[in-house]
Amino acid sequence: MTLSPLAPEWLSHPADANALRPLMWARDVTRNDAGEIEVAGVSAGALAKQFGTPLFVVSEADFRARARDFKDSFDAAFADLCGGADVYYAGKAFLCTEVARWVASEGLRLDTCSGGELAVARRAGIPGANLGLHGNNKSDAELTRALDMGLGRIVVDSLPELERLGALAASRGERANVMLRLTPGVHAHTHDFIATAHEDQKFGLSMAPDPETGVSPAAAAVAAALGHGGITLLGLHCHIGSQIFEPEGFELAAKRLLGFLSGVKAEHGIELPELDLGGGYGIAYTEADTPRPPAEIAKAMAAVVGATCKELGLAVPRISIEPGRAIAGPSTFTLYRTGTIKTVRVDTAGGGTAERRYVSVDGGMSDNARPVLYDADYSAVLASRASEDDAVMSRVVGKHCESGDIVVRDVYLPADTADGDLLAVPGTGAYCWALSSNYNYIARPPVVAVANGAARLIIRGETEEDLLSRDVS
Ligand code: LLP
Repeated sequence: MTLSPLAPEWLSHPADANALRPLMWARDVTRNDAGEIEVAGVSAGALAKQFGTPLFVVSEADFRARARDFKDSFDAAFADLCGGADVYYAGKAFLCTEVARWVASEGLRLDTCSGGELAVARRAGIPGANLGLHGNNKSDAELTRALDMGLGRIVVDSLPELERLGALAASRGERANVMLRLTPGVHAHTHDFIATAHEDQKFGLSMAPDPETGVSPAAAAVAAALGHGGITLLGLHCHIGSQIFEPEGFELAAKRLLGFLSGVKAEHGIELPELDLGGGYGIAYTEADTPRPPAEIAKAMAAVVGATCKELGLAVPRISIEPGRAIAGPSTFTLYRTGTIKTVRVDTAGGGTAERRYVSVDGGMSDNARPVLYDADYSAVLASRASEDDAVMSRVVGKHCESGDIVVRDVYLPADTADGDLLAVPGTGAYCWALSSNYNYIARPPVVAVANGAARLIIRGETEEDLLSRDVS
């Protein structure tokens, strides 16, 4: 066993480098008798042969099961309080026509955040009533599209947007269904770029009173919405951030929004019927992450909502949530082919030196920007075979022209990992394909769904022709 002084504190040397930690993988991923990774009965080698690498591999059963689990758990937990709960899958995590259909067929609704996502929803045949639209800077074209599609809810992010939407709907002789996104002032424990409910960021209407008028932007928006002929105000919304494990932030946000609803009741004599508590539930990318199961989250949320409403003398509003990552993330792994391997000697914190092995793969920051953007940690295993070799400290890197092009910063991989092996990186279903780019003119990989022993393309990979097709000369 070779322990590396370069390993971060949370990373242990694996007793068995071939083992798959269940929390990090789709539930139907196993290592078969030949030592190869397989998903729903299809081996990594067969997938690579049929579709090439890099490849996003989604377990359809796992994706669907996670979607259903959220819906069932929240329905059950809120059944007695408000007749159940609505779950909107946050399409920004990963969306295509097929996935939109899976989500709908599991009884979820769909949260979109752009005209493009609305176009996918329309192609998938999702009724407008089951769609929400987010965005801090929605265009008139997007708002018009939302009205054309009869959206169940438009989550308004600012006073100017409320005015614009109200005027647009009124000019059509309609009322827009509106939720107001508030910032409850909770700073979630996550990367700064994915925390969204503290004051100093771009989203939502602040609940803090203006020092001059004593009226908060949120309260001003409620008053404006209630008095507007083009708006039906359904309720309030908050989203405190993403990849969050601690329950406290969610609970505090729920309490603050219910307190605000109680203020609305006192001031306007109206109990708004809906409250959306957003998404943000964390998943396991590495052994350091311990996510809570949806049933546990739902029960804790229901307890807080029930008790707070009771205390405030409020009828419990219809609750909804918007998970993205926790449904899409663990369902998927990325399959890469390894290439150049080199070892460098680096200084350690203790004053000595140690070896770090760089294992290059045939993708990188264009198919997973999260390590570069958020310092996100991932894990990896050898997918084409098992190995009995000692596991050595490794860094999996991409093929892009940047030294920051890291796929997995720190992982123990078998010493005999060689050029031409397949590597699988789990937990890449959310915000990887969605954030993918053509940096360095590298084509975006395909996405395949695997179920019942068969794999099928759900998004085809880009070709060189695709890459050149928008050049006008
Ligand atoms: N609702 C709203 C209003 C959101 O803005 C988001 C995510 C969600 C729901 C879904 O959050 P989830 O359950 O997936 O955490 N690209 C970053 C994450 C950005 C999250 C954006 N909003 C990342 O890769 O970590």
